[in-house]
Amino acid sequence: MRKAWLKWTILGAPALIAAGCATYPDQPTTRQIAEKMVSEGFSAPMPALLKRLVQDKSQQICSRIGDAKLTQEEATEVVKLARESIKYPASGKLVGDWKRGDQLAHDGAGDRIQFGRLEKRKENGGLCQNCHALAPGEINVGNVGPSLTGYGLQRGNSEAIAKLTYERIYNAWAYSPCSNMPRLGATGHLTPEQVTHMVAYLIDPASPINQR
Ligand code: HEC
Repeated sequence: MRKAWLKWTILGAPALIAAGCATYPDQPTTRQIAEKMVSEGFSAPMPALLKRLVQDKSQQICSRIGDAKLTQEEATEVVKLARESIKYPASGKLVGDWKRGDQLAHDGAGDRIQFGRLEKRKENGGLCQNCHALAPGEINVGNVGPSLTGYGLQRGNSEAIAKLTYERIYNAWAYSPCSNMPRLGATGHLTPEQVTHMVAYLIDPASPINQR
């Protein structure tokens, strides 16, 4: 019994491999099929929600198959598109109110789909806590991104640091193309003004993030 099974497996293997080679589609086709399955399987009732399935140019570049690396040209293109997306607040002031930033950093609500509908909220939260360590001693934090504890203590609060921090939060891909940090300003999840509050939360010496 066992031997027969083995014999057929050995004899059958080349045939199976040959058949497999002949019938499996190539990577781009597999990707097309997978994307079609996802979009057809996602049946949100509101057309506005279905728009989320449409990838912008940078997302298309960033959606690699397997572990394929970004080429230099692709990375340059993603950074260029990200830089073009950055808008600054009308006031020109990049550092807002750290207390508002503190609230927003710990607020994960907004833009969620609940019961097939888009959550209605006066303002979206910043989600930072989901991925980053924030003030010292906070336990309920994520580790997808680097710790932001002591961010301002390490970097200071110069104009240059404020601008860099604003741009990283508005569109992280301007500095780390295709990273897992959401493009919070560029996607419209946070307003430019909210981003200034996040900047203050990170660099203001009075902010809880910068206490020892
Ligand atoms: C889904 C996870 C995720 C969320 C949510 C998120 N980040 Fe990030 N963040 C990352 C990752 C991953 C990195 C590292 C890659 C990069 O720099 O883009 C990062 C990097 C950063 C950096 C650069 C850190 C450094 O050492 O220079 C800053 C600043 C930052 N995030 C701030 C924020 C703030 C403020 C929020 C909330 C408004 C936030 N992040 C929300 C994942 C996230």
